[in-house]
Amino acid sequence: MTHSTLAGAPFVATQNNALYLEGVELAALARTHGTPLFVYSKAAMLSALAAYQRGFAGRNARICYAMKANSSLAVLQVFAQAGCGFDIVSGGELQRVIVAGGDAAKVIFSGVGKTRTEMRQALEAGIACFNVESEAELEVLSEVAQSMGQRAPVSIRVNPNVDAKTHPYISTGLKGNKFGVAHERALQTYQRAASLPGLEVRGIDCHIGSQITESTPYLDAMDRVLDLVQAIEAAGIEIHHIDFGGGLGINYNGDTPPAADALWAQLLAKLDARGYGQRQLMIEPGRSLVGNAGVCLTEVLYLKPGEQKNFCIVDAAMNDLPRPAMYEAFHQIVPLAQRSGEAVTYDVVGPICESGDWLGRDRSLIVQTGDVLAVLSTGAYCMAMASNYNTRGRAAEILVDGDKAHVIRRRESFADQIACEALVR
Ligand code: LLP
Repeated sequence: MTHSTLAGAPFVATQNNALYLEGVELAALARTHGTPLFVYSKAAMLSALAAYQRGFAGRNARICYAMKANSSLAVLQVFAQAGCGFDIVSGGELQRVIVAGGDAAKVIFSGVGKTRTEMRQALEAGIACFNVESEAELEVLSEVAQSMGQRAPVSIRVNPNVDAKTHPYISTGLKGNKFGVAHERALQTYQRAASLPGLEVRGIDCHIGSQITESTPYLDAMDRVLDLVQAIEAAGIEIHHIDFGGGLGINYNGDTPPAADALWAQLLAKLDARGYGQRQLMIEPGRSLVGNAGVCLTEVLYLKPGEQKNFCIVDAAMNDLPRPAMYEAFHQIVPLAQRSGEAVTYDVVGPICESGDWLGRDRSLIVQTGDVLAVLSTGAYCMAMASNYNTRGRAAEILVDGDKAHVIRRRESFADQIACEALVR
């Protein structure tokens, strides 16, 4: 029996010319549930979480899963049962946490555009902290909390002005980004927060970007944040916790981000050296907890040879897997069954009427019509960003746990898609 694992998909293994996720054969799932189909490994998620937990052993730290990466209820349930809190960015996400059995008291609320309704909803639920992103938001939050006879727990998201060296669309810690309060204005903003009757300053927050594959930007940002903590506390405002955001990258295509425990060993050494090692810590990882835990199965519909390009047309598209179209992102694509023969170079594309609808370019594949391909590392920011463009129902989702496969989302029907619409009468 041959047995090997794939880079970028740690829980996918080849056994006797078939691909398995944990104990479940992927081809069998495609036959039973159809394609496109997202399949996630619970063990892969828990193993990614364990790396952070190891990193924080003996520390006062809370891992708040940034659920925007994958907000499917059963995925949230896995992290809630493992004791995680959640980083949310909308009232809808808060409702998902509660439905999935998560604890609102472990929720932190990020985002530049919280509405009054969302603030009220979060205060009613009793969340742990609001990560406030502007002075204007501080004023509104104070007003809302006061009107409810409460004081809202707040951190201010500071923008450390460090380059996370990632795609410009997912870099958030530079001066030109819409996120956070400029480093230079942070102290002033804290003083304002401390003076507002509806607020209680709890912590400081920073998030510099996503798919970060080096430690240096984190270490630089940590220094900048600790400088601020020192200045803010010198001004008499106590900082109870430091929230260091998310952003750690995963292996999509030979990327070599530091392991979560190795990164935190470095960051904790810095915190210790500067005397903040016992401070309460929070983090908001998304992609690094779920990205490599998922694959998307898709069937080859047609092979279309061309003069300049050969196309492999599959039944998944940019509405299911938006990352290539949005960020020119790379996902490995592997056939479920290995065929013999000569490999052909294809652009793997979906059925949507846009040239931007591609999943992989110049991929060398040995495939035939009807074969099923696995698009790897699709556990994060795929289903969560899926749409109904071209009136395509969203894919079904399966959670694999050992040799069990649970349907955690059925395929969206046409009736589901038009449920909110009405004809003019
Ligand atoms: N905290 C905040 C405030 C965030 O804005 C984000 C992500 C995270 C935490 C989680 O970051 P992570 O650990 O997942 O890198 N759709 C893009 C990624 C957008 C990230 C947005 N913010 C993609 O597919 O690459």
